[in-house]
Parts: sequence; C-alpha cells; structure tokens
Amino acid sequence: MAIRCCSGRTLLLLLLLISAVPISLVIQLERATWTSPTPHLHYRSLGWVRECAKWDAPAGRFLVSTGLDGGLAEVSVARSDGVLAERTLLREPDAAGNASLGIAVDRDRGRVLVVFADIGSRFSAVGAYRLDNFQRLFLARLSGPEDGPSFADDVAVDADGNAYVTDFKGSKLWKVGLNGELLAVIRSPVFVQRKEWYYNLGGLNGIVYHPNGFLLVIHTGSGHLFKVDTSTHEVSMVEVEGSLLMGDGLELVSPTKIVVAAIRPSARLVESSDDWRTARVTETYSGPSHRVATSATVKDGKVYISHLLGGGLKTRTHVISEAVFSPLSPT
Ligand SMILES: *[C@@H]1O[C@H](CO)[C@@H](O)[C@H](O)[C@H]1NC(C)=O
Repeated sequence: MAIRCCSGRTLLLLLLLISAVPISLVIQLERATWTSPTPHLHYRSLGWVRECAKWDAPAGRFLVSTGLDGGLAEVSVARSDGVLAERTLLREPDAAGNASLGIAVDRDRGRVLVVFADIGSRFSAVGAYRLDNFQRLFLARLSGPEDGPSFADDVAVDADGNAYVTDFKGSKLWKVGLNGELLAVIRSPVFVQRKEWYYNLGGLNGIVYHPNGFLLVIHTGSGHLFKVDTSTHEVSMVEVEGSLLMGDGLELVSPTKIVVAAIRPSARLVESSDDWRTARVTETYSGPSHRVATSATVKDGKVYISHLLGGGLKTRTHVISEAVFSPLSPT
C-alpha cells in the first residue's frame, strides 16, 4: 500500500503494527481467524481498508464504511453459504476522493450517518442517508482548506437527532442538527490534557451517545476518556482505572458498559457505576491484531469487532470477529 493513500491515523497504526508483529505471529493469528471456534465473519471485499462496521439489526446486515473508496457497503449475514460478500450501497459524489470513516445507524429516523475526511486534512464532512434506498438527506461540510487542518473521524447521534463528529486532528467536536446545519463547535482545554507531541499523534476519535444525555469520547494518543453534556457542552474527564491508550472506535454495550476497540488489545470492556464520573477497564479481548481492530458494534447482545486491513491475494477478505472477553486480573 502506498504511503500517500493512508490517513495519519491509519499510517500511525500501520507503523506500530509493522514494528510490533513478527511475520510468524501474523501467520498464526491469520490461521486462528479461520480455525477458532468463536465466530469470525470473513467477507469478500473490493478494498484493502475497511474502517468501521455497525450492525443494522432489522436488516440483518453490517453497514461498513469503505475507507479510501469513500463510500458505504453492506455485508448481509442472511446468506449461510460460507464466505460473505460486501455490496456497495453508496458513494458520495460531493466528497469524491475523500475517505469514509465512522458511521452511526440512526434507526429511529431511518437513516445512517457517514463521516468523510480528506487524507490531506483539508476537508471534513458528515452525510446522512436513508436506510431504505440510501438517498442522501444532507451532506454537511464541517471544514475546508481555509479552516486549517481537520480530520473528521467518528459520529454519534443523540436522542433529538443531533450528530456529533469528532475531529481527530483538532480535538474538537462538531455538532450538526437534524437537517445538517452546523449548530456548534465544542472545544475544551480538557480535551488536551497533555501537550507533548507523542500524546497528540491522534486526537479525539471514537464517540458514543449515552441515553442519560451525554457523549463518551476517546482521545487516541493519550487514552483519555471524556464525558460531554449534550445540552451544556460541558466537558469532563472520566477517571479511568486501567489504560485506554490507542483507543479507537467505541460502542455502548449497556448504560454502565462500553467497549473500546484498539490496536492491542483488540477490545477492552470499561464499566462505570457512577454515571461515568469514574470507570474501570474490567475485561479485554485479543483478536487478529495483525488486521488492526478499529470499531466495535453489538449484535444479538454480543460485541463484534471489525478490522481495518484486508487479507488475501486475488480476492480480499475482511474479518469481523466476535469478542470473547477475559477478565482482567486485578493489579
Ligand atoms: C474531498 O472532497 C472535497 C469536496 O468535494 C474536495 O474539495 C477535496 O478535493 C476532496 N479530497 C480529495 C483528496 O479528493
């Protein structure tokens, strides 16, 4: 893969990966995805990079952002004849050349939100599309070349249908209304606790909406988790026991539990008993880490982790694996 085709984030992950995983281990990990007793869904894909997968229960499919191909695909699990295949649902002509990243399924309103970003950090947008025919409802431009570097990464939707998009580059949130209007830009010194460059190789990344009226957001480079009130926009840091360093995609498992996908371990369960003032990493899952876990979703009460990198020579296959968690021994 040519270096110029990777986002800062992808490139960073790749470098870490290449430096950290010997080939023999890659082969072993890859074999395990085919032989392991826990479900690994392999699907044929048209690209090397798939950024995010979210389960869309009523339709029996995963919706997948196609990364550098700049679109959205589905992987339907209704078929039971072995290897699954992705089907392209949309490409956004007004963000052509940009990557598609985080997605949020907004079932209540029959739509899906998709984040787009320019690999060169010169353009960020979020689009909303109908879930039945994938017609566009809006494409909200969040920043352009005149606004300085930005990299829209992930999105969550609140109870009123407002969307919150993380800026991986600028560590801020864009708040977008039901019809695509930009309502606010949420910045806070709390988001950038550590000024050292190595804590800021990656900024705000995965985001989820909590039904009690706040967002939980992860900062990749520092591993800090933040709580953001959706009405006051007040930002506080969640005091987490255990490391969330390199945290990427998030998913809410229950009001007291979230899952954090990351390069290693592939996923961590984080629990809170005080409405996310404090939290604790309780369990971890190590999956096919050479594929680089980037996002998490819940299907039939179980956590599934999707991976960035495809494998194979003639036909590319991607992996979505069921996370089998092991309790973390208390330190
Ligand atoms: C991303 O989309 C914007 C808006 O269409 C465009 O100006 C920009 O050139 C695109 N980026 C790339 C890398 O093609």
